[in-house]
Amino acid sequence: MKLYLALFCVSFLAATMVEGASEIPEKFFGKFELDKSENFDEFLAAKGVGWILRQVIKLAKVTKVLAKNPQSGYNMENLTSKKNTIYHGWQLGKTFEDEGLDGEKHKITFDFKDGVLSEHHIRLNDPDNSAETYYYTIENDQLVLKMVNNGITCRRWFKRSKK
Ligand SMILES: *[C@@H]1O[C@H](CO)[C@@H](O)[C@H](O)[C@H]1NC(C)=O
Repeated sequence: MKLYLALFCVSFLAATMVEGASEIPEKFFGKFELDKSENFDEFLAAKGVGWILRQVIKLAKVTKVLAKNPQSGYNMENLTSKKNTIYHGWQLGKTFEDEGLDGEKHKITFDFKDGVLSEHHIRLNDPDNSAETYYYTIENDQLVLKMVNNGITCRRWFKRSKK
């Protein structure tokens, strides 16, 4: 009887630990406004973005909204002067299709692991060359976005908005 009880406790603990690891912590939720960037120009250049377009992209205001969806899953919004992308009701680890910033259909997957939220995109019209991953962490109550391409790491800091 004692053994069964012990086994039950162990499996219950293991289950809650796994469960806990696959949820986005509360501190990630809110509205965040782009504040500063590191290596963004180099990052865009390495992706083949021309000088004029880089100046436009660098000046763009970006707001990110992350929330728990009231029905199920989570919401992520990327709000810019050019175009908004609004993904509502996705689940961690479950790929869905929606429009990307480029107006094309993307396959998108969010994951949460070791304190890092990742957002993976693949364009349906170019699956072999278009994979992109955005990594988000919370540091000093700011949302930090990390992107890597061709060995260049770019970071962008978003301040939590009080509004
Ligand atoms: C959010 O918008 C910015 C500015 O337009 C863009 O550079 C970035 O790629 C977008 N992020 C996503 C995940 O679409």
